[in-house]
Amino acid sequence: MKLIMLGAPGAGKGTQAKRLAAKYSIPHISTGDIFRANIKNETELGKKAKSFMDQGLLVPDELVLELVADRLSQEDAMKGFVLDGFPRTIPQAESLTETLEKINSGINFAIDVDVPDKNIVRRMSGRRACVNCGETYHLTNLKPKQDGICDTCGSKLVLRSDDEPETVLKRLKVYHDQTQPLIDYYKGRDTLHSVDGTKDIKDIFSEIVEILGE
Ligand code: AP5
Ligand code: MG
Repeated sequence: MKLIMLGAPGAGKGTQAKRLAAKYSIPHISTGDIFRANIKNETELGKKAKSFMDQGLLVPDELVLELVADRLSQEDAMKGFVLDGFPRTIPQAESLTETLEKINSGINFAIDVDVPDKNIVRRMSGRRACVNCGETYHLTNLKPKQDGICDTCGSKLVLRSDDEPETVLKRLKVYHDQTQPLIDYYKGRDTLHSVDGTKDIKDIFSEIVEILGE
């Protein structure tokens, strides 16, 4: 199953993608997570990406396209994947379509997790992410077992540097300008399905599973 998650920053793409990857035994590929791992490891790519991410801007397509094509060519992605945070621009979507066409394949489902802007800023200010493994939590909606500590690896939980309210507003604007047009792109390819992202995490998951099939 080849799946992409669409939706505004903070809509819950990562939360659902992780659960879907586990259910369908496919890799969860998040470009945001890949960039954050590169920033943590102080790679050249990480240094370049950080300056854009901290401003709430998209990393330029040329830094993203090769990275994703390379990741999708790895063995574990052959039978399927859930892409989270990619594509984010029309050129990225076109590039993905071309990459998959080369192996006679294509996206089966594009899931749009729909959350109005007014809910987003509140949600993001409560998100906490693990400094080590990137696992995400929420102060009220998805609490760790122990305050401020990651359930998975025991490291500290922090507010992501791009989750400050001002940066979130910028990311939302970038989303509406550059990423929302992808909804029509995938509608036109008959793969788009929208889910109401304001519901409970579990209910949204069930709704997506109903769309994808058991
Ligand atoms: P990325 O990491 O992809 O960030 P994003 O798209 O802005 O989305 P988020 O990860 O912030 O939100 P999410 O939808 O995953 O929500 P989550 O599940 O965490 O990208 C970061 C940056 O990297 C970009 O700004 C850009 O600079 C760069 N980048 C990445 N990919 C790129 C690309 N392809 N091209 C160019 N640049 C790129 O949920 C949010 C919070 O809400 C959590 O605390 C969660 O617990 C909680 N929550 C989730 N679901 C619910 C629910 N149903 N009810 C209540 N709370 C919920
Ligand atoms: Mg995410």
